[in-house]
Formats: sequence, structure tokens, C-alpha cells
Amino acid sequence: MAILVTGGAGFIGSHTVVELLNAGHEVVVLDNLCNSNPKSLERVKEITGKEVKFYEGDILDRDILQKIFRENDIESTIHFAGLKAVGESVHKPIEYYENNIAGTVTLVDEMRKAGIKNIIFSSSATVYGDPAEIPITENCPKGVCTNPYGWTKWMIEQILTDLQKADPEWNVVLLRYFNPIGAHPTGKMGENPNGIPNNLMPYITQVAIGKLEKLSIFGNDYDTPDGTCVRDYIHVMDLASGHVAALKKLAPGSGLSIYNLGTGIGYSVLDIVHNFEKANDMKLNYVMAPRRAGDVPQCYSDASKAERELGWKAKYGIFEMCRDSWNWQKSNPNGYED
Ligand code: NAD
Ligand code: UD1
Repeated sequence: MAILVTGGAGFIGSHTVVELLNAGHEVVVLDNLCNSNPKSLERVKEITGKEVKFYEGDILDRDILQKIFRENDIESTIHFAGLKAVGESVHKPIEYYENNIAGTVTLVDEMRKAGIKNIIFSSSATVYGDPAEIPITENCPKGVCTNPYGWTKWMIEQILTDLQKADPEWNVVLLRYFNPIGAHPTGKMGENPNGIPNNLMPYITQVAIGKLEKLSIFGNDYDTPDGTCVRDYIHVMDLASGHVAALKKLAPGSGLSIYNLGTGIGYSVLDIVHNFEKANDMKLNYVMAPRRAGDVPQCYSDASKAERELGWKAKYGIFEMCRDSWNWQKSNPNGYED
């Protein structure tokens, strides 16, 4: 029996494939490489010494999905494939709705035709909008998203919830990630953003390596301890092991399960800058800048449900997150192109 990992060549997918292989699972990856490089899967093999069966193709393509389900004994799907650039989604909403929502509907339709009814979906803390409670539990109501990317997560959660309700044979796990950073501790795998990064940590590492001149900190007048926004950063290896732990919720009769994957600790933008400087013994060039539209002041999890029900808890701290992000960047200044 194998696990189908859609988007498995990407940042979180590739790290999860490593952890799945290390846990003894057989893995099949489907990825159209629109935001990744197949070298990530070569690195998976270097790290684990194990093979991954790779299909280059699209979740919107029914033929390739049928081929995968014909040629492999798939028991469950971990569904990472999706477009994720917040700013781009504002300019290209149809492309985001088509790829993420139509793509997921096509995937689950072909899964049910093949009799496979187990899925773990990559959701995001973005579904909480400006959260009604801090720390955020899974009972916190979903909020108003500020961009089409966020709405695709919000809507796909609803689609999978409705599907499971209509057909209780489905087992669905919605994992709401907080802010994934870090990289594989070997420095062989990490985040490989296209163009100028929008997210904080890849921006910081590109300033550190001299590709970008300085970091702009978006807003220092929020109602937070130091005025900068607070987030729940989580090491990508912890996120990866969270998926392996979540597989147990795909047992028959599990139904619908929702988990926050975070550390439960909030760090401000300045905390991240200072921890990065300390972990890597360097000074970072930064300036204060106006607030960025759509940012919420604070977003961090109550991660106790995952610990209680999955026996999973984040192990890596902020030092390792900063160390491993930099280790990946400095060993691979041009990502997988090196
Ligand atoms: P990523 O872009 O590195 O990985 C996504 C992968 O999906 C890429 O390899 C891409 O080529 C592939 N893909 C996209 N559309 C596809 C399609 N139609 N068919 C086949 N493959 C397709 O992103 P990531 O950071 O690894 O994120 C993985 C998932 O987690 C995404 O769904 C993302 O929205 C979600 N997520 C990410 C974060 C984050 O901060 N990185 C936070 C919350 C949720
Ligand atoms: C963003 C997305 C979220 C998505 C997540 C992962 C928004 C509003 N939210 O979360 O939907 O799931 O990325 O892809 O875009 N910052 C700076 N300077 C920078 C970059 C960031 O100060 O150059 C600050 C931001 O203002 C924020 C914090 O750093 O306070 C984290 O930003 P980022 O890494 O972009 O993540 P989020 O905004 O939390």
C-alpha cells in the first residue's frame, strides 16, 4: 500500500516525503513542477536512500490520476498541490480557484471512483482570518480571508467537510499550518521561492546572503509587545512529522478531523530578526516600514489538540529554525539550481 503525495516536489511536500519514507511508508508523488524542481526528489533519495515513484503531471488531469490509481495500490492521499502566493492570487483569482479548487474536486472525484477515501489536506491558519481568540484553538470560528488564496483554503475545507458528511466512508484530516520555516538539517533541502520572496524567512536569508539589500519590517505600531506582528513559526521537519502522525486519523470510521500544526509560541518579527542574528552570528540590515495590507497583528496556535489526539508535538525551537533556514540558503545560494 502506498501514499499518494500531490505537490510532493515542493517545500513542505518534499520534507514530508522524507519523513514518510523514514517511517517505512511507500510513496508516490504527483507534481506538475509549476513551483518546484525535480532535484528536490533526488535529494530525498540522497537523504533516505529510498526511491520515490514520481509522476510529472497535474491534479486537474483525470487521465494521469486514473493511471496512478491503476498502477499503484494507493491507500491515502496527502494533498499539498496548490498555488500559494498571496499577492499573485489577488491579481489572478480565476487561476487560483481553478488550480486549487477545481484541482481538488477533480482529485477527490477520481479518488472516490478508485475507491480511495482517505485524504489529508494542507490548510492554513489563514482560514481563521483576524482570529476571534488567541491562542487559536480548532474551535475558533473560521473568519474572513483577505485574499483569494486564503479563500481557496477556506472553501476546500468546506468541500471536503461536505463530502465526508455525504459519504461517511471518507476519512478527512484538515491540517491548518501556522508559519512553516526552516529546512532539512542536512542543508540538502529547503524552500526555493521564485523571484523576490514575500514571506519573512526567505526574505531574511536572501538579505543575509546579499541578494537583497535590506529587510523591511512591515509595521511597528501594532498592539503587540514590541509593536511588530506576532506569528507561530514552525520548523518544516515538525510539520512533516505532523503528517505522518495524522495518518492514524485515516483509520476506518475516523470521519473528519481538524488540527492546528504550530508550536503554540508566538514570535514577533523583531524576535525572528534577533534570533536569526544570534543563531548565525551575524548582523542583519533592516528598516521599519509601513504596515502591509491584510496582515493581522497576532496569530498563534493552541497546539494541544494535536498532542492529545495524534501524540505529535513540535520538537524544534526558534534556534534550529533560524540555523537550518540559513544553512540551506548558504549551501544552496540559488536553491536547487546549484
Ligand atoms: P510549494 O509551492 O513549494 O509546493 C506546492 C507544490 O504543488 C509545488 O511543487 C507545485 O509544483 C505543485 N503544484 C501546484 N499546482 C499543482 C497542480 N495543479 N498539479 C500538480 N502539482 C501542482 O508550496 P509549499 O510551501 O510546500 O506548500 C504546500 C501546501 O501547503 C500548499 O497547498 C500550500 O498552500 C499549503 N500551505 C503552505 C504554507 C506555507 O507557508 N508554505 C502555509 C499554509 C499552507
Ligand atoms: C502569509 C499569508 C498566509 C500564508 C502564509 C504562508 C498574508 C496576509 N498571509 O502569512 O495566507 O498562509 O504567508 O505562505 O500574506 N514581514 C515583514 N517583512 C517582510 C515579510 C514579512 O515584516 O519582508 C512580516 C509580515 O508583516 C508578518 C510576518 O513578517 O507580520 C510574517 O509574514 P509572512 O512570512 O509573509 O507570513 P504571514 O503573513 O503570517
